[in-house]
Amino acid sequence: MHSPTSVLVTGGAGFIGSNFLLHMVPRHPDVHFVNLDALTYAGNLTNLTAIEDAANYHFVHGSVTDAELVADLFAEHAVSTVVHFAAESHVDRSIMAPLAFVETNTKGTVVLLEAARAAWDDRDAHPDRYRFFHVSTDEVFGSLGDDGFFSETTPYDPRSPYSASKAASDHFVRAYAHTYDLPVLISNCSNNYGPYQFPEKLIPLFIQNALHRRPVPVYGTGENVRDWLHVRDHCTAIARILEAGRVGETYCVSGNEERRNLDLIHLLLDLVDEALGREPGTSRALITFVKDRPGHDYRYAIDASKLRDELGWTPTYDLETGLRATVDWYLANQDWLDAVQDESYRDYYEQQYSHR
Ligand code: NAD
Ligand code: TYD
Repeated sequence: MHSPTSVLVTGGAGFIGSNFLLHMVPRHPDVHFVNLDALTYAGNLTNLTAIEDAANYHFVHGSVTDAELVADLFAEHAVSTVVHFAAESHVDRSIMAPLAFVETNTKGTVVLLEAARAAWDDRDAHPDRYRFFHVSTDEVFGSLGDDGFFSETTPYDPRSPYSASKAASDHFVRAYAHTYDLPVLISNCSNNYGPYQFPEKLIPLFIQNALHRRPVPVYGTGENVRDWLHVRDHCTAIARILEAGRVGETYCVSGNEERRNLDLIHLLLDLVDEALGREPGTSRALITFVKDRPGHDYRYAIDASKLRDELGWTPTYDLETGLRATVDWYLANQDWLDAVQDESYRDYYEQQYSHR
């Protein structure tokens, strides 16, 4: 059993990282949390206003690629635990500009591993004192056909620059466990949704476009399949794995909610209409089929029975309940959306969709 004393959370101003901190900081007043975030377009401190003054929370503006800064943080905060979220996370951006993904996702992970290796030099004598938790994705396993599931033993087969950079980081984490006995844990999870997700990803983008009666751009024919996990369920899974996961192991995390994109989009748009009191079908009329994403993975699906059987974790949100709450959250938080979509995001959006 691992009981963290001082947790370095990287990327804690992003979507999943901020939900994780909002979940953990008030529940663990005796644990110190340090949030290291570079505040890229995807990182927003407004996500964290509820905990910004908490005595056990400390924010540091900086990059996981900065080896000197990271080593200093380990020493200054006596870090016992790393929960590593920081990443470039959007597949479409990785297709436009892959090198940033290598830099943050791969190199940044190795910088953190190096700092942990140096700082935790008494780890052999204290097997439960330290943990390096690496948050990864099911996309490292490639793409499924109509049948089958990814599991912890599925061979890696990344197919986008994003998933290749995450796969490389997973390999480094495993290599540090094998070569240096670093006490690591890895999770590979499916598509998250919920509050504070940057509105370039499917669900918040489509809620926002539907609200403003803009076209909702469906890639290809909308046949691709994803498994959807509410971010709060993801956070409880991470907390559980951190506490009781077996060192060196990988755990796959799933929401058990597989949907064809078009089916998910119909449900989502119907919920938007319902929340806005619009005539049923109003938002479905905004569906616009656009050019497919290059190399678009067909299907992701996860068998999460290891996490259920070993650690007793299962998701609590069904998709419709989770989506309804998510639609309500975005409609009620238009100030947040205005704040996070600055000029550079609007330029990206133009570039992304103008040629389609
Ligand atoms: P996000 O893009 O919303 O947030 C990423 C955060 O990392 C931002 O706060 C950003 O400022 C920060 N960051 C970026 N580069 C940094 C750097 N060099 N140094 C420090 N901070 C930096 O991402 P997310 O959706 O919250 O994803 C978090 C993690 O979970 C990622 O590792 C991602 O690969 C993984 N993951 C995400 C999903 C998903 O559906 N969102 C699914 C599976 C796995
Ligand atoms: P996304 O949220 O980008 O996550 P990922 O690519 O990591 O799965 O996309 C989810 C699915 O929705 C994916 O199959 C691509 C598709 N998609 C669209 O059809 N239109 C869009 O505008 C976006 C952003 C995604």
